[in-house]
Amino acid sequence: MVDLCDGHEGAVVNDGEGTRAAEAQGRRFGPLGTALVIIPTYNEAENIKAIVGRVREAVPEAHVLVADDNSPDGTGKLADELAAADDQVHVLHRKGKEGLGAAYLAGFRWGMERDYGVLIEMDADGSHQPEELPRLLTALKGADLVLGSRWVPGGRVVNWPKSREFISRGGSLYSRIALDLPLRDITGGYRAFRAETLRGLGLDDVASQGYCFQVDLARRAIKAGYHVVEVPITFVERELGDSKMSRDILVEALWRVTTWGVGERVGKLMGGRDSGAAKP
Ligand code: GDD
Ligand code: MN
Repeated sequence: MVDLCDGHEGAVVNDGEGTRAAEAQGRRFGPLGTALVIIPTYNEAENIKAIVGRVREAVPEAHVLVADDNSPDGTGKLADELAAADDQVHVLHRKGKEGLGAAYLAGFRWGMERDYGVLIEMDADGSHQPEELPRLLTALKGADLVLGSRWVPGGRVVNWPKSREFISRGGSLYSRIALDLPLRDITGGYRAFRAETLRGLGLDDVASQGYCFQVDLARRAIKAGYHVVEVPITFVERELGDSKMSRDILVEALWRVTTWGVGERVGKLMGGRDSGAAKP
């Protein structure tokens, strides 16, 4: 498979620092290999064609996998049409709505079975701009995991209601403190993983279903000692379709993050191993 990233350059705030830190640790990062952009969908018929087209244009070497939960609005069928016309576009049909976490886990498995070197998470609604992907991939050359970040200098949100910004900033702050994570945007869903990193996270026991899946993976990566870099992004609120954010998703996130945080503290008090460690 071809090396994806040669020729993509971009200003990445944390990249130099990250690469230097990694070199100081004596780490060398291998070539990236081919990237798979995984786009989970539930009722995104109005968005799917445009987002796939933008990804194909922004990173022509990358492949796309649409992970659709049998959307009632026919998103899966539209994705099939895109796949029929382009052999770098693929569709994973799932039987019903099981949450973002389950869709990503299935997408990661699909990609790792097929030897993709980089697995990317991206929303279908245009909030994550494909045109920023080359910057994430450049940063991944010197990192194990790159997070697109709204809450580092240079990152921002456009057209998000203040209420959503409050929830998101609050969620990241709470996760940062409860889980002792040196990260700013812990709930974000625009990310690039090396396949080796995903293999080291122990994905088989991930139970998170909703958006706290993102917190779960970030926490596992940090606890396992991976080099995680945040790159500023501009998150643009969707113009078409509806957010799937719900009270249940918030409640799940709150109780899981609290449970992990308490578990880690109890583990430390008992003098045992860090209960959050995901890697031997
Ligand atoms: N397959 C599948 N199944 N896809 C889903 C499901 C599901 O149950 N729920 C949501 N999605 C897809 C949506 O279709 C969309 O492509 C993406 O996941 C994100 O969903 P949105 O509903 O647009 O999320 P949001 O804009 O409210 O939330 C954003 O911010 C969160 C908090 O920072 C996303 O970026 C989240 O990833 C992020 O955690
Ligand atoms: Mn959205």
